[in-house]
Amino acid sequence: MTLTGGLWFGVSKSETVPLFQVCLLALAAIANLGLLAVLFRLRYVMQRHLEWLETFNADGFVDAPGRGFLTRPFMVRSIFQMLLFLAAATSCVLMIGTMIGTGWIGDASSSRAVAFYERQAKDLAENYELIPFEHAHPLLFNELGGKPPMSILDVGAGTGRDVNWMAINGHSVIAVEPTASFRVLATHLHPNSPVQWVDDRLPKLEKMTVQRFDWIVLSAMWMHVHPKDRPAALTRLKTLLAPVGKIYITLRLGPPEPIREIYPVTVEELRNIGRPLGLELQEFGEREDLLGRSEIKWQTVVLSQP
Ligand SMILES: C[S@@+](CC[C@H](N)C(=O)[O-])C[C@H]1O[C@@H](n2cnc3c(N)ncnc32)[C@H](O)[C@@H]1O
Repeated sequence: MTLTGGLWFGVSKSETVPLFQVCLLALAAIANLGLLAVLFRLRYVMQRHLEWLETFNADGFVDAPGRGFLTRPFMVRSIFQMLLFLAAATSCVLMIGTMIGTGWIGDASSSRAVAFYERQAKDLAENYELIPFEHAHPLLFNELGGKPPMSILDVGAGTGRDVNWMAINGHSVIAVEPTASFRVLATHLHPNSPVQWVDDRLPKLEKMTVQRFDWIVLSAMWMHVHPKDRPAALTRLKTLLAPVGKIYITLRLGPPEPIREIYPVTVEELRNIGRPLGLELQEFGEREDLLGRSEIKWQTVVLSQP
């Protein structure tokens, strides 16, 4: 139990190194099952010793047959083995959860990011909602404000600040958001907003089917897409784009944050992914972070088919 406690403590302290976590959990499971097996042998040897004592020192032998549930023979061994089995099973469950969370098994793109947003949703929502749409996205404000209705897809829509503005300005909007707490908060914060919310995520966006969009918006979310998934993600977005549609992306330029799956992004990388897909990238300037983080800047870009 002490060994297990130590290993689990190690797991809790190495949140950013999932491989190490999985190794520690595997070690804990193997060690617990090993000790469980060792107890069979230990108890067997003890039994033989008791039998020997009974034969050769009958006067000093204390017979303890135990009739009750808790006093019967093998109770101590059984309880220890049960605890060891439970600890091994818990380690296995945690190990599988970690592997799913890391994306090594199953489709769990951005699952650590989503887990982070689930935990922090309420606090983050206050900050997100403080920024008016026109400050967050002046370019979109000009392109969409007072214009005929367009179909818009917002991927990683968060608390719905942007999609709400677009919808009340007459556009038809679908908001994709994998974080359940954000989807719930969005419906409370913007109760009458005619936005359709979908639980989906990049790179696959499996639930989006035939519709084509005039604008696809990725505000502060591209950095969550793993670099190896980015070509597939952009290819998927292109299939959802109307022939004259545009993809609007704000790129986070700043240090990576492994704990919430924020990977480095650059304009050049995105341009290179877009080129073979026939998407041309236009830059619209770098801006300070509106939440006041000095180490982070935001670059607005638009991808379109020439
Ligand atoms: C920094 S928040 C930005 C929210 C909102 N777009 C805004 O500008 O306020 C990033 C959002 O991306 C979502 N997200 C993370 N990974 C995603 C993925 N693979 N596909 C779609 N959304 C994702 C998160 O749940 C979160 O709502």
